[in-house]
Amino acid sequence: MSEPTNKSNKRKKQEEIVEQDETTAPIDLELIKKQFKDLVRPIKDNDDRLDFISFVCSHLNIQIDPIPDHKPKESKQENVLATIIQDIKDSLPDITTEAPNEFICIPKNNSFKGYTKENTINVDGFLYTDEDIDEMVESGKLQSHYCLDCNSKSVATLNYISHSTTPNQLKYMFSEAFLGDTTDKKLLDIGSRLGSVLYTGYLFGQCSKLTGIEINQFFVDLQKNIIKKYKMTDKIDIVHGDIMKNSDLVQQSDIIYMNNVLEFFQENKDLHIEFWKFIQKHTKKGMKLVTIPSLEESFKNNKIPLKLKGWVKKIDTDIPVPEDDPTFGDYQEIHLYTIL
Ligand SMILES: C[S@@+](CC[C@H](N)C(=O)[O-])C[C@H]1O[C@@H](n2cnc3c(N)ncnc32)[C@H](O)[C@@H]1O
Repeated sequence: MSEPTNKSNKRKKQEEIVEQDETTAPIDLELIKKQFKDLVRPIKDNDDRLDFISFVCSHLNIQIDPIPDHKPKESKQENVLATIIQDIKDSLPDITTEAPNEFICIPKNNSFKGYTKENTINVDGFLYTDEDIDEMVESGKLQSHYCLDCNSKSVATLNYISHSTTPNQLKYMFSEAFLGDTTDKKLLDIGSRLGSVLYTGYLFGQCSKLTGIEINQFFVDLQKNIIKKYKMTDKIDIVHGDIMKNSDLVQQSDIIYMNNVLEFFQENKDLHIEFWKFIQKHTKKGMKLVTIPSLEESFKNNKIPLKLKGWVKKIDTDIPVPEDDPTFGDYQEIHLYTIL
């Protein structure tokens, strides 16, 4: 009668020793894998293998999903961003995403050749995806064509423009592969408009501070409401004003984001030149500039008589982007520089 008890006590003791060893000694996983392979080699039959695997899983307390879920899991951040986007859509008067009485001009350069006020419509890329646009066109909420001669069948497609960076572009921009380690870095978005850069940076980036400066009071109020509602005031600051009167913001930043700051908002070409002189003057060695479009294109389009050579160095951002992503081209619009 005593024998089994002794044996089981002995086994218990041995197990305790093994458990103790497991907590203290580092394990050699590769060795265990090799031992496992040797152990399972004799199990040839498929059903036996399945039986054994299910035993291993239950022993290790691992649940294996029989139908693998290929859909990417929606993260909490994705859900918050989607809710912010819906909140902004709800607070704006219509699809064009313009502030009341906002002055918008079409740039007169090769990138927007043929674009006129009549054939161009603003559909914001932060709020609406390409699929949303297709749906809106199908349901008649959004026009896709305009009439060349009234009452005729002579129609042409409308040009869509966006004044915001898209969520996908921003998640790519805030990735470590693009910007490097941004922990403790301060980012300034010049012309922050809806706040797209700031919320996406808050949710998906590592920057310690995200500041947006916006000249239009309507959009400043909108951004302030969002950051208050979503409790993002610990990292995000919104400044109302003209960047040209806030050189300290430029000087204090590590990363400066500029997406078409003046292109659609300033017709006076002299002010474009003043803007770039101001940026050159106040940026310091080591800072990063992220721009849409490239500085080369901006300078060429707006005939900016300043040299890029000696001021900035372009950083190759040829990082892997899934080529089957239909928005592949969007990522290539984002350009990265470092100040020399
Ligand atoms: C194309 S939007 C970019 C929005 C945002 N940065 C993004 O990428 O989603 C440019 C914004 O710059 C603002 N802006 C134009 N001139 C400015 C200035 N001198 N100072 C501050 N903001 C300005 C405009 O009102 C507009 O909202």
